[in-house]
Amino acid sequence: MKFFHAFLAFATGILLAVAPVRAVELSIVSGDTGNGIKVLSEILDLYEKKSGNKVDIVVIPPSTTDQFGQYRLWLAAGSSDIDVYQTDVIWAPQLASQLVDLTEATRDVVGEHFPSIIQSQTVNGRLVALPIFTDAPALYYRKDLLTKYGAKVPATWKELQDTARLVMDKERAAGNRDIWGFVFQGNAYEGLTCNALEWVMSKGGGGIIEPDGRISINNPQSAAAIEMVKGWIGTIAPPGVLAYQEEEARGVWQTGNAVFMRNWPYAYALGNSENSPIKGKFDVAPLPAGDGGHPVATLGGWNLAVSKYSKHPNAAIDLVKFIASREMQKYRTLKTSNLPTIAALYDDPDIARQQPIVPRWKPIFLNAQPRPSATARIKYNEASSQFWTAVHNTLSGNGTAADNLADLEARLTRLKGKGW
Ligand code: GLC
Repeated sequence: MKFFHAFLAFATGILLAVAPVRAVELSIVSGDTGNGIKVLSEILDLYEKKSGNKVDIVVIPPSTTDQFGQYRLWLAAGSSDIDVYQTDVIWAPQLASQLVDLTEATRDVVGEHFPSIIQSQTVNGRLVALPIFTDAPALYYRKDLLTKYGAKVPATWKELQDTARLVMDKERAAGNRDIWGFVFQGNAYEGLTCNALEWVMSKGGGGIIEPDGRISINNPQSAAAIEMVKGWIGTIAPPGVLAYQEEEARGVWQTGNAVFMRNWPYAYALGNSENSPIKGKFDVAPLPAGDGGHPVATLGGWNLAVSKYSKHPNAAIDLVKFIASREMQKYRTLKTSNLPTIAALYDDPDIARQQPIVPRWKPIFLNAQPRPSATARIKYNEASSQFWTAVHNTLSGNGTAADNLADLEARLTRLKGKGW
């Protein structure tokens, strides 16, 4: 009997030693923009091979505003269906309490990333998300068309307006009936907040809500900036631009139907892809400045966070570290022209050769303007939605910029009064 017990213990030991660590099934949620999901699934294939774990991608719509709404529902329900969330740079203060603190687990790698980005994802001393790429927009322009009409790359919004009009009119007269001058993100969502912050701030109208909490948006420069853009709707920009997000703008641009586009760096790789009609015909420049002002680029970017409700937090952290790693950021950048968050990759010769926008965009990203999410904190989404609504109303002909901004100031003041 004794022998039997000893044998049983020995056999169990062997079994435990040879049996693989039980594979875990994880899920990651991500919006679908450009070839982002395709590249994520390639990265996950590599992870599955390395770890033995399995990862499902839950694909949701590309709008960051829609994603935020959906994330809030999942988190409010304490759902364990999602282990890893892909999060926008602006969300950390609002989601922090439902995300795992990654400080300890990422000590070995956190120093590779730009400190400002790590800072933006740190709330009350807790690192709630690890960055996978950063974002700063570009003015995309058609080199071939500017050369054809002897026009130069616009340095101010006024020059952009004049050149867009000139090239568009001449091209249309020559039979290119579908061409427009400028496309951007005019839909009523977070993307419009990014675009409008650039118009307003570059024209001297300030940052909507200042770092000291002052609500600064209601001023004549901001109103003039938004009225300027209203003048573009239906003239140099298609009326439909009021419903465009990133992908709709890129759709018009990449089929060759726009002279200029405001978009993030992801559109660079796609525009130069094999079957793109504009491959080799375009380049990028910083966004235009206001007259006498300076150009402003809104800071964007994406991160990975582990849900507090995950049943496999350690495996989920392992996955996050894998996707955010230097090797995988390089892989992503080569395929998508997303800007890495690891400083060393800006000196990588493969990246410089295959995606030259990346080293060129380092100073633009480093000087990019954050949205007031660290100031409005848990109220940021509401504040931003009030802002984009005021702008969208004005662009749609629903009230003047001056009236809509006065109304916005009153709304933001009430919101601030409730505490942020
Ligand atoms: C990009 C940016 C993100 C921003 C969004 C707006 O995805 O990276 O920060 O909120 O665009 O549409």
